[in-house]
Amino acid sequence: MGKIDLNTAGIGTRAIHAGQPPEPITGAVMTPVFQTSTYAQPAPGAWDWEYSRTHNPTRTALQDCIAALEGGRHGVCFSSGMAAIDTVARTLRPGDKVLCGDDVYGGTYRLFTKEWANYGIEFSFVDTSDVDAVEVPEGTKMVWVESPTNPLLKTTDIAKLAAKAHKVGAMVVVDNTFATPIFQRPLELGADVVVHSTTKYLNGHSDVVGGVVVTNDDAFAARLAFLQNAAGAVPGPWDCFLTLRGLKTLHLRMKRHDENGRAIAAWLKTRADVALVHDPGFGGMLSFVLRGDLAAATRFVQATSVFTLAESLGGVESLIELPAIMTHASVPAEIRASIGLPDGLIRLSVGVEDLPDLQRDLEAAFEAAAGR
Ligand SMILES: Cc1ncc(COP(=O)(O)O)c(C=O)c1O
Repeated sequence: MGKIDLNTAGIGTRAIHAGQPPEPITGAVMTPVFQTSTYAQPAPGAWDWEYSRTHNPTRTALQDCIAALEGGRHGVCFSSGMAAIDTVARTLRPGDKVLCGDDVYGGTYRLFTKEWANYGIEFSFVDTSDVDAVEVPEGTKMVWVESPTNPLLKTTDIAKLAAKAHKVGAMVVVDNTFATPIFQRPLELGADVVVHSTTKYLNGHSDVVGGVVVTNDDAFAARLAFLQNAAGAVPGPWDCFLTLRGLKTLHLRMKRHDENGRAIAAWLKTRADVALVHDPGFGGMLSFVLRGDLAAATRFVQATSVFTLAESLGGVESLIELPAIMTHASVPAEIRASIGLPDGLIRLSVGVEDLPDLQRDLEAAFEAAAGR
């Protein structure tokens, strides 16, 4: 038997080893933080490393690790999830049509409708959770989905959607931030491109903002690398190091997020004071509607002490928020209403703390919401 290929090994082995051979000079087991902007060249232009906007070894390790986790050949990292999304949008041209899921992160909706729409790119929005009902019109250039969605946790059959999109020659981009490659690998399902806010589960410790695009398409990857260097929204080496460090426990963290998420979803569904639970069936993201008004929901999110009232998600610590007022305030009220996102919707990012403490914390919030 030969050596194990660390790019195709089990997902936990990939999280720990892919893209990270021991550093060749010292054998350092951990990829060093190459905190440098430039590199000494032995002769003019005769060196692989020229400038850290173009290349940085810590960034390369992170890119290769995430690409391997997603089953992709190319990973290209950015300074935020939005910079990753913006870079994919930059590959479009005036007149291009994009069919986008109707329940995407508010910042994605804002970037598409308030910025890229000004450059002649046409965006239309559709619920992709019932793929049979989705029509991908002729001439569509790109189909963009999140699955599960943020914050309604709707899921899309990516394989079916990709088959439909490819029939009309559209490329499929999946924002896989919520699912992570532990639960879903869109490239294996037929998607062309995967994006992540690495700020969330991939880093997992709420201490870095970052993004990545992964693809198996060599030409598209070359375009992304060009834009990464030309526009320059690159992550610093220290942030790449922290994200690599976070990635090493991705598989362990996701298992615990899932265990806690399942238990809390099941418990919420039994409660008479909960009108509706949005639960994708896996992972740590949930949202629910409390019986009562917005004031009751506001009391709820202010009453917890283990769940922190904050935007973002996917860190080891549990977070709670009101999307309509916080993460999705950039989505117009009438659009929120039309997709079933009430002001009182409460979103939970269930962390990896001890389940009884999480449950007791929420129990106290139910009491506070009821004014008891
Ligand atoms: C699903 C999803 N995609 C993209 C983003 C944007 O990522 P970032 O905040 O790292 O720019 C977010 C942020 O919340 C998100 O939830």
